Amino acid sequence: SCTQPENSISNESIGIIPLPSTYELKPGTFYITGQSSIGIDKSDPEMTALANYFNEEISDATGFSLPVNNSGTIIFQLGEHKELGEEGYQLSISSDQLILSAYKHHGIFNGIQSVLQLLPPEIKSKTVQADATWSINCIEVTDKPQFAWRGLMLDVSRHFFTKQEVKKFIDQMAEYKYNVFHWHLTDDQGWRLEVKSLPRLTAIGAWRAPRVGNWWEREPQLPTDSLSYGGYYTTEDIREIVEYAQQRYVTIVPEIDIPGHSMAALSAYPEISCTGGPFHVNVGNTFYTKIENSLCAGNEQTFEVLDSVFAEVARLFPSPYIHIGGDECYKGFWEKCSKCKMRMQKEHLKNLEELQSYFVKRVAAMVQKRGKQVIGWDEILEGGLAPETIVMSWRGMKGGIEAAKQGHSVIMTPTDHCYLDFYQGDPTVEPNTYSMLRLQDCYKYQLIPDSVDASLIMGGQGNLWTESVPHYRQVEYMIWPRALAISETLWTDARLRNWKFFVNRVEQQFERFDRSGVNYARSIYDPIIYPHWDKERQLKIAMKTEIEGLSLFYTFDNTIPDI
Ligand code: ACM
Ligand code: ZN
Repeated sequence: SCTQPENSISNESIGIIPLPSTYELKPGTFYITGQSSIGIDKSDPEMTALANYFNEEISDATGFSLPVNNSGTIIFQLGEHKELGEEGYQLSISSDQLILSAYKHHGIFNGIQSVLQLLPPEIKSKTVQADATWSINCIEVTDKPQFAWRGLMLDVSRHFFTKQEVKKFIDQMAEYKYNVFHWHLTDDQGWRLEVKSLPRLTAIGAWRAPRVGNWWEREPQLPTDSLSYGGYYTTEDIREIVEYAQQRYVTIVPEIDIPGHSMAALSAYPEISCTGGPFHVNVGNTFYTKIENSLCAGNEQTFEVLDSVFAEVARLFPSPYIHIGGDECYKGFWEKCSKCKMRMQKEHLKNLEELQSYFVKRVAAMVQKRGKQVIGWDEILEGGLAPETIVMSWRGMKGGIEAAKQGHSVIMTPTDHCYLDFYQGDPTVEPNTYSMLRLQDCYKYQLIPDSVDASLIMGGQGNLWTESVPHYRQVEYMIWPRALAISETLWTDARLRNWKFFVNRVEQQFERFDRSGVNYARSIYDPIIYPHWDKERQLKIAMKTEIEGLSLFYTFDNTIPDI
């Protein structure tokens, strides 16, 4: 039998997200003071780094750093806990000692996140909280994740985010036990990765005319525009960010989106298009089907360029996975291109889907020969999947189901539960976008469809496309709190899910966000308003709330409601 959600409700004093698999609160309190100390195996440099990380996380608010010795009141230790796996941990907190044990260092890191969340919210303050008491209710926790792949995707093409902002993103995701940062580095609106052998990719492809206003409604680039908006990551930046992520046990999975979504690359190297261009980096105006944004599949030079790109990507990123995109490839220019037609004839390709599959297979082989596994959006199913590729299912679950039926591994990220660029509350007060995804919808998500081999579902992720996200404050607004829900669906046993208890813990996280200055969305407190005509053609307005216990105040005379 499983733990009943009711048990969790009675333990509302725990605020941890994602909820641990098993825990039991005990009588008594453990205090961290300036006299506490951390005990580790000092001959283990990785454990020393973890102790230092813990100190860094607490020192702003507490004003102290704990000495790290071979023994202490706070123990971090590895042991023969094979059952905890790579990422699990055990936490035993009594009034005189806090013992965090794991099989692997990544487990210790995850356990540290739980300890930090067990401390009062003042721990997230950026300045010393002299009046705070650093107490933890005694507790026993045994915890490990349901899914190995727990990711968040950030699109840095539609808007550019600095190295410091990317590090902050990684820091924030690691706090909620995410372990994959999917970095969408290229698209029509900007190429963000320096490739030393192809300097035009960033010299040209990283810059566009500045524009504000709604995406797709913007004025196209004019001849008089200066190309002043953009940016890219140098190879030194990438190395620095990769190392930063490694210290937080986050794998960075880079995405180079081909063969579609490539207008920035075509601006740099128009010779690998079907029409020859010229092109410029898109500013956020409409163009799809009218201006070419797919790489020519008939030109050998296309594959030479991509070989250089993926050689560099494989060198720069230690991740065992590289994402090659594959989504939304418009094939209208291929259809009319003599080189593409020649390719189809020579390779006996019956249609444009098979041409796309040919393209993806060739690129997949380039990546695989460098020892990396290939991931693609679910369109890579069209025309036939390349061998050994992993499918990221975004247009619902059906691509993932189909791929799993063919024996391929799958990462689930269906729009209905995982697209963090959608509205999260009333569209009249939310930033402009095109669909709705409330916190509740993220939380309801069941990752494993019936009828597939569950072992092929590696996990899932939330995706933040940034068309309507012009700066990092807005990244935070879109990610939090919805990424709290996604983190729990990926980490915690689905049988422990309980919306009311989750909301209680979300509100505890809000207090922490307030302390640390994270710009989270308060959309769960918005009324949900449905104006509609009833059967008698009477105008009715229904109102409800996403969470329980709120009061609604309203007027019908265009005045501001009061109580
Ligand atoms: C996607 O949203 N185009 C993968
Ligand atoms: Zn072509």
